Amino acid sequence: MSAQPISIKQLTPVKHFLQFKDFTREEFEYLFERTRIIKQKFKTYQQYWPLQDRTLVMIFEKASTRTRLSFEAGMQQLGGSAIYLNTRDSQLGRGEPVEDAGQVISRMSDIVMIRTFEQSIIERFAAHSRVPVINGLTNEYHPCQVLADIFTYVELRGSIQGKTVAWIGDSNNMCNTWLQAAEILDFNVHVSTPSGYEVEPERAGLYGHEHYEEFADPMEAARDADLVTTDVWTSMGFEAENEERLKDFADWQVDEDMMRIAAKDALFMHCLPAHRGEEVSAGVIDGPQSVVWDEAENRLHAQKALMEYLLLGRVE
Ligand code: CP
Ligand code: NVA
Repeated sequence: MSAQPISIKQLTPVKHFLQFKDFTREEFEYLFERTRIIKQKFKTYQQYWPLQDRTLVMIFEKASTRTRLSFEAGMQQLGGSAIYLNTRDSQLGRGEPVEDAGQVISRMSDIVMIRTFEQSIIERFAAHSRVPVINGLTNEYHPCQVLADIFTYVELRGSIQGKTVAWIGDSNNMCNTWLQAAEILDFNVHVSTPSGYEVEPERAGLYGHEHYEEFADPMEAARDADLVTTDVWTSMGFEAENEERLKDFADWQVDEDMMRIAAKDALFMHCLPAHRGEEVSAGVIDGPQSVVWDEAENRLHAQKALMEYLLLGRVE
């Protein structure tokens, strides 16, 4: 007797989180509320295993501390398990087509997280995946970080709608994601980059120019801002430009003078890892307005809410 293929209940179409604009404002509001509930369960030692027997595969083509830890610990805390793959030890590093990897890995797991270089790589993987794919950082976007950062803002200050976020520094993956978030969640971003490093709206995947304004002077961008945020001057994959960037970004440090010009109760955020004395002074990142440790902690809970949503849909 020949074995019959087993037909399974499949969520169609499979939902992915490849960039911030993949979700609507209502979905983010739901996720922020689930993050709050899931965090509270964790803090009060309540076991919550909705993803028992589910497997997350994490593929890393770049280094990570927070992303690996938060996804791996998060999946375990939800009752599932996580498997770590990196380019060096897998066939991806030896040229196996990403489409083939998407087919195979998604037949052996329930959900996949990828950190890689070009956004097109994760899109090609997702197009061949049977299961949800999450962007754990690409050259273009870092949606899980901004999800956790905005949850942190909401947790500490309430709704971000109508607020002003100052982005100081490189128009990198974090900047692009903040700009997408501003369009979805209806807030404003004041961006200041050195000349030659300006926002590229198409690369950022923006619908328009209504939610951000560009400033040549970083102090003007920070004026009255509710949140001041920055990131490394040289992102992973751009190391060859490091020397030049150190010179070009020298005037784009978030320091105490800049925080003084922002709103009185402004928060400072940085996705980490940070370079004290480059994009941020030690006084700011280690000072009273900094919420960088909360941001890192909230990666754990925001991503648990994200995985729960992608695998189970709305649970309440
Ligand atoms: N912020 C962030 O994604 O950190 P890692 O590079 O350590 O994962
Ligand atoms: N922009 C940085 C973020 C690191 C979490 C990078 O891509 O290296």
